Amino acid sequence: MSASASPAPAPPVPAAASPSPLSVPAPTSGPTAAELLDFARRTAADAGLIASLPLDPEGRTWIRLDGPGGSEAWLIGWPPGTGTGWHDHADSIGAFLTASGTLKEHSLAARLPTDGWKTLELTEGIDRSRELTPGQGRAFGRHHVHEVLNESADEHAVSVHAYYPPLPQIRRYSRTGAVLRLEQTENPEDWQ
Ligand SMILES: [Fe+2]
Repeated sequence: MSASASPAPAPPVPAAASPSPLSVPAPTSGPTAAELLDFARRTAADAGLIASLPLDPEGRTWIRLDGPGGSEAWLIGWPPGTGTGWHDHADSIGAFLTASGTLKEHSLAARLPTDGWKTLELTEGIDRSRELTPGQGRAFGRHHVHEVLNESADEHAVSVHAYYPPLPQIRRYSRTGAVLRLEQTENPEDWQ
């Protein structure tokens, strides 16, 4: 069967269902990004849990975890050469940390307009890259735009991720040079 035969239409973005992001207060009762990163660090140190993740050379694998304070957490296995593509997590804050192998993160050090655009020409100088070896991770705020890759030719990577509030949506982008294009908005169940 061809993967291109998927009939799923792209759902409209429910922009009218929520007020402007500027009027939505940051979550005050949930865990902070630093606490999510602490959770990722503690979890990555659990060798038994990390070893329990099935690894598949053909694609990413994952286990849902109980994150702190009602957050959504995942253990993810990355075969060599896999990556997420550019995306953000809308209004969720988060953190991730490498448990084994090495991950590369490309990110944008700029806050993008949240709505009302389809393509955006990125300003020079906002690209960031970091390499995360075992025990290294990062926390991020709302609307963090990034892609995560395992660039290794032969080594699997495993990482721990946590998000709060639990992922309401993921916006996916394509990128050609400096031009970022919004491709689709996914719900977490599409992403898993
Ligand atoms: Fe992400």
